[in-house]
Amino acid sequence: MRKNIVAGNWKMNTTVEEGIELADQINSRLEGKEKNCEVVICVPFTHLTSVNAVIDKDLMGLGAENCSEHEKGAYTGEVSAAMVKSTGASHVILGHSERRQYFGETNEQLLAKTQKALEHGLTPIFCVGEVLEERENGTFNDVVASQVEALFSLSPEAFSKIVIAYEPVWAIGTGKTATADQAEDMHAHIRKVIEDKYGKEIADNTSILYGGSCKPSNAKELFAKPDVDGGLIGGAALDADSFMGIIEAFD
Ligand code: PGA
Repeated sequence: MRKNIVAGNWKMNTTVEEGIELADQINSRLEGKEKNCEVVICVPFTHLTSVNAVIDKDLMGLGAENCSEHEKGAYTGEVSAAMVKSTGASHVILGHSERRQYFGETNEQLLAKTQKALEHGLTPIFCVGEVLEERENGTFNDVVASQVEALFSLSPEAFSKIVIAYEPVWAIGTGKTATADQAEDMHAHIRKVIEDKYGKEIADNTSILYGGSCKPSNAKELFAKPDVDGGLIGGAALDADSFMGIIEAFD
């Protein structure tokens, strides 16, 4: 059966020192606590090694927020999947809308990044989601389906290792959350798209997270939906209490 997951996406926030402190706070709040989901924190590249040293990997996973589609070599400023893995990380966010929008990441590139991540034993948290215009003009289901289909040259075995995060771009950092019904409709749609390609077993076992202004006050309603298997959390992951509040939404 698929896992429930709450993953934090710190984006470009915190110095290394602040990041260590935040990770340490989350770690101590998780100690001795019963929880009904997996927890992952995805942090800037610069923080991975130091954060890895202060967290208990039995309590939470550690992820990067991106990785290169290339194996290694003359790509100044890039960070490879092998490098991410060597820090102790287990996960990597790929295809976040901010990467697609501000850094021009294409479906083709994202497939290559996903392949690299999988080759190096990282679990990709692969983000999809429509922009406001696509929500309003009714093309959102097709847009999101085509983002998921960008991965459909992967083998069933490879695809089954991926976590999907549905993040409507209009809900990210805006305080405007998708309603639980909007999220459920899209998650069920994504699961159907996966089922049509890879079959029911893989579709049923794929964790599909919701992201976009998820907070303690709305997490419970979102996570109660049958196809919503957790959240990818931006702003609310930067505060240990609110991040814990979201984890506790799975009770
Ligand atoms: P948000 O970001 O929770 O701040 O809306 C979510 C994300 O971008 O992953």
